[in-house]
Amino acid sequence: MPATLIDGKAFAARVRAKVADHVTRLREEHGLVPGLAVVLVGEDPASQVYVRSKGKQTAEAGMASFEHKLDVKTSESDLLALIAKLNADPEVHGILVQLPLPAHLDSDLVINSIDPAKDVDGFHISNVGLLGTGQKSMVPCTPLGCLMMLRDHHGSLSGMNAVVVGRSNIVGKPMAQLLLGDSCTVTIAHSRTRNLAEVCRGADILVAAVGRPEMIPGDWVKPGATVIDVGINRVEGAEGKTRLVGDVDFASCAEVAGAITPVPGGVGPMTIACLLANTVTACCRANGLTEPEGLTA
Ligand code: GUN
Repeated sequence: MPATLIDGKAFAARVRAKVADHVTRLREEHGLVPGLAVVLVGEDPASQVYVRSKGKQTAEAGMASFEHKLDVKTSESDLLALIAKLNADPEVHGILVQLPLPAHLDSDLVINSIDPAKDVDGFHISNVGLLGTGQKSMVPCTPLGCLMMLRDHHGSLSGMNAVVVGRSNIVGKPMAQLLLGDSCTVTIAHSRTRNLAEVCRGADILVAAVGRPEMIPGDWVKPGATVIDVGINRVEGAEGKTRLVGDVDFASCAEVAGAITPVPGGVGPMTIACLLANTVTACCRANGLTEPEGLTA
């Protein structure tokens, strides 16, 4: 395997340590405790796992964690009333509404009811617009984590050809904006892109975020390219056991790439680390304090 492994688990631990240091400083110097409220509607098992993990890591970083677990039948007006309460609560600096929401709730309406300054997911249309126009915003956690790893590996990304495969609001689109902000030449590709293999072969940086297990083989990768695999797909493994795989075929891509993130242990751990970073950033901004270095885009 000639490719260098980009160790997201170790990188995320460093980000969390930096966050914890900053939290200590905020408490000792300003009497502030950054607080993150997480709202979960219903009992989706994967969402429950994420929310538990978020709560644990928030507390470990020395921050306040407020969990609101609501019944699957919660009405839109009750959910909006809770968000209004959290918007007004000075102890809450970040609000995250776990997605997907049950079908009877309008996700866009709910997300856009969050105070943009507390929108640590960066999904509010104001934050999307600020990011798209190169202004200071809250940046979605997964693409922020990818950007941090890319900057750490390459230093400057200026002039590099970046191909993002996937056009979701959570990853693909904000990832493309961030790479553009770092002066990459950016292509957003997706499952319907013609000559997708050819497009991918032009990438110095290839970000795979399509949600299709092992869709990208090694012969789509330019020799020496950096491959960032955002996919987390559970597939049937040997003896009926399930295993996690990414959106790229790791074995064949690692033969060609210059650097690659593994699954698990690549992008995954960076998402919650960046959520904690965004909460500290939101707390600093809300109080007119200097933001931590290296934890924002
Ligand atoms: N569901 C899966 N990923 C995410 C995320 O990053 N934020 C929220 N709010 N929900 C999610």
